[in-house]
Amino acid sequence: MPLVVGTALLAPAACTSAGSSTPTPTGPTGSTTPGVSAEPTGRSGIPEGGLTIPGLDIAQSVNNDPALPISISRPIVPGQAALTDAIKAWADAQEQAFRQNYLPSPEGAPELNITWQVAMANASLIGVRVHEREFAGASGQSSNHVFYGDVTTGAVHQAVDLVAAGQADRLAGLVWAAAAKLADPVEPAAPTGPDAARLLTDLVPAPDGTLTAYLDQGAVAAYSAGNLTVTLPAAQVTPLLSDFGRAVQSAVASGVPYAGPAPVPAAPSAPPAQPTEAAPPVQPPPVQPPPVQAPPGQAVDCSTLKCVALTFDDGPGAYTGKLLDSLAASGTKVTFFVLGQNVTVRPDIVARATAAGHVVANHTWDHRDLKKLTASQQASEVSTTSDAIRTATGVPTTLMRPPYGSFNDSVRGLGQAIIMWDVDTLDWKYRDSAEVTRRALADVKRGSIILMHDIHATTVDAVPALVSALMQRGYTLVTIPQLLGSAKAGTVYYSATRAN
Ligand code: NI
Repeated sequence: MPLVVGTALLAPAACTSAGSSTPTPTGPTGSTTPGVSAEPTGRSGIPEGGLTIPGLDIAQSVNNDPALPISISRPIVPGQAALTDAIKAWADAQEQAFRQNYLPSPEGAPELNITWQVAMANASLIGVRVHEREFAGASGQSSNHVFYGDVTTGAVHQAVDLVAAGQADRLAGLVWAAAAKLADPVEPAAPTGPDAARLLTDLVPAPDGTLTAYLDQGAVAAYSAGNLTVTLPAAQVTPLLSDFGRAVQSAVASGVPYAGPAPVPAAPSAPPAQPTEAAPPVQPPPVQPPPVQAPPGQAVDCSTLKCVALTFDDGPGAYTGKLLDSLAASGTKVTFFVLGQNVTVRPDIVARATAAGHVVANHTWDHRDLKKLTASQQASEVSTTSDAIRTATGVPTTLMRPPYGSFNDSVRGLGQAIIMWDVDTLDWKYRDSAEVTRRALADVKRGSIILMHDIHATTVDAVPALVSALMQRGYTLVTIPQLLGSAKAGTVYYSATRAN
């Protein structure tokens, strides 16, 4: 199957913490010219040009505590177990270090966000860029790393492996000199020895033989200069490349497209791999509850009925399909607040949800704390996700839920109705189906909006019994539009009866 450009990643956006010295952005990855340097222009500082490859899946780890917000998304690359595992190990190490360094704090909560994109993919190699952003108080920093997976052998390399032995200082010097033309360097000279590697974490060749280096914030210039990008001419970089580096360079130049994972014995055509740490167990079919009163997709008179809305955040995930099966069995319609990045990986799931009468709404692109972003970054988080939803489902949305429930006045000004909740199951914390049901039933009342997350197997497993119990108590389960009628942009809704 051919490569598909992830169009949602191509939307222009402000860069992370870009200062007044921000250089003029250039075009997408691959269209840069030798010697020209620019800051990445992708959403929230991640470079443009992310790709989608067939069979790609996502694993997520989200700590929904607003006092210690953590959102980690990583790819499960088809046929690339070693690459998948290497990125998992890196992400796990980042999370562990973050949790050791920071304690939960309701005031100025530290935040960790890891996201990713496919930086290159062809018949020989897949390059995955992981993008880490860490915030402590008001300041933040971000970094990129590229991992390369060999499609044929399954071997994993990091970007620095593109550089020949003994040439790291030389290449780092070229990168540093080019970056120093963009923003004033903090140090008087390029780093050498072990320090040189920090300029070589994200190296991606282009078809014309040039090499683009995306730099961590603070790697050369001040943090406020953002993630600087430099592109070096082929004539300069080729002599400095390792055998592996030259192989990558020629593979990119060959332009032979990625054709899917190498055939392996045993189940090559199986569905996309599930997160290895949480494979969904085979469950018996859900118990068939009595039918709900609400007809799909139609107006429901919540002035006479005891309406309640079930909402599911952070997906679509590995268990969302199973949830849709379970909701279909009971005829229940719900609302999904999805991440734009996940929509591009699982567009079929959100299309299926919409076709089944559920509502798919906006939970931003990559689950960042919106209060830590600039107004233009906030707008980009919402608009790219709305575009992805409309592309996948054909249905626009103006309902959004900010990650961690965190918003400010500028978020209210984005033309969205902000949908909060009045019943929090804390399903992300307890991971216990019975506890999810118990908490939901303990706090529910007429007009409630119940918060859950369909990225957890325990939550999805809780739904049949919860739906049944709510209906036995006389509740009508509805979508957010059915519950609220016409929700107003800029208004914050906590339930059908509480808004401001
Ligand atoms: Ni969330």
